[in-house]
Amino acid sequence: MTACSNRDSKNRDTGLPPGLLTSVAREYGTPVFLALDEDFRENCRTFQRYFRCGRRRVVHAYSYKTNNIKALCKAAHQEGLAAEVVSAAELNMALSLGLDGRQIYYNGPFKPLDSIEMAILRSAAIHVDSLTELENVATTADDLGKPARIGLRLTPIVGDRDGLVWGKFGLSLDEGEVDAALSRIQSSTQIHLEGLHMHIGTNLTDSDLYEKSAECMADAIDMVQQRLNRNLQYIDIGGGFSAASGATPFTAHTEEWQPISVDEVGKRVDSVLNRVDPDQRLNVVTEPGRILAEASMALLCRVVSVKMRQGRRQIVLDAGTNLLPTAYYTRHPLSFPSRDDETLGGAADFHGPICTQYDLMAAEVSAPSLSPGDLVLIHAAGAYTYTFSCQFVGPRPPVVLIQSGHTVSLVREREPDNILWQYDHLPTDGQKS
Ligand SMILES: Cc1ncc(COP(=O)(O)O)c(C=O)c1O
Repeated sequence: MTACSNRDSKNRDTGLPPGLLTSVAREYGTPVFLALDEDFRENCRTFQRYFRCGRRRVVHAYSYKTNNIKALCKAAHQEGLAAEVVSAAELNMALSLGLDGRQIYYNGPFKPLDSIEMAILRSAAIHVDSLTELENVATTADDLGKPARIGLRLTPIVGDRDGLVWGKFGLSLDEGEVDAALSRIQSSTQIHLEGLHMHIGTNLTDSDLYEKSAECMADAIDMVQQRLNRNLQYIDIGGGFSAASGATPFTAHTEEWQPISVDEVGKRVDSVLNRVDPDQRLNVVTEPGRILAEASMALLCRVVSVKMRQGRRQIVLDAGTNLLPTAYYTRHPLSFPSRDDETLGGAADFHGPICTQYDLMAAEVSAPSLSPGDLVLIHAAGAYTYTFSCQFVGPRPPVVLIQSGHTVSLVREREPDNILWQYDHLPTDGQKS
């Protein structure tokens, strides 16, 4: 069973024995993130097994921003995945993990000039997001006298979802930007257009959306062939695949919510590409994030206090939405490792400890009777959690890696208290003593 596969896969508990959780809590304190090595690796393998796109060569690039704990990024590469990065820091991290630049896809709407230079020098693929950026890449490549490998990110606005929100990314076919980009590429000797890129959303459950946007890509492939008389090497369909992790978005009915079938996505994209590439020469790149990482981390915390308010238990935990911002829009499954009895104590709301009324981690959960000090495990806490967390009022907790169900290693240290002020300076002038 795995958290990442087709629709028949089941939500998976961490399967970690309560004794192990108690000893992790004792040794590292709470809250503490648990990164689950086997689950993550199994998700990487399952995704690679299920995602096929005809006979095309497929490259999967793990999306660092989803969860950039170094131990997980390294595990992804050991499992054969390349890297998708969106900042100079992530680009440096991928290089520091020993990746060859050719295994790195550099995305995002803002790429500082020095990071463009680094990407060119290391032969990473730069996915150009705007005409301004294309100019920056062309000038930098000319200055360096080195070719820039690029892809063009397209803006396929599919359906009437939140199309315009995603419209800030990439180049639009409709607005003539792709056309203008191809003219600029034609006039440059150092720009090598190798691929086209799209990324149409996250937590997607509907393979139709991939098919529709692949059609948009097919039109662009046609256009490149006609205008540049050149064949592309790859099509990058981005990430966005929802995971069978047990977490569901507030916008969905839990019972009806079905994660996407990745083999269906691969088939649909392949059949669209066959229209413009019947010999299947184009490679396909994917950039999975959530589907690999969501179920691969849990947040272990403790009950701080229990209060009754209008007949409902209000439970305050020592971990809040500053660590798990996804709780604002996601139902995370909870389990209660300190309680082995099944006796329910009725519905409870679980709050975080930070000083805002919005710090609600889970509402109306059927939970056993709980007391201060009891452990609570928040599941499916591995996607856009630590990377989106912040130091609202305190340092961030450690992350430990669990391997083989029992080996525990510290993979990210707890930040020190002085993280709140260590990078600050007091002005030297005009201070009253
Ligand atoms: C360009 C790009 N690729 C890949 C991803 C990963 O998406 P997901 O975690 O939904 O698979 C994202 C996430 O926002 C992205 O922006």
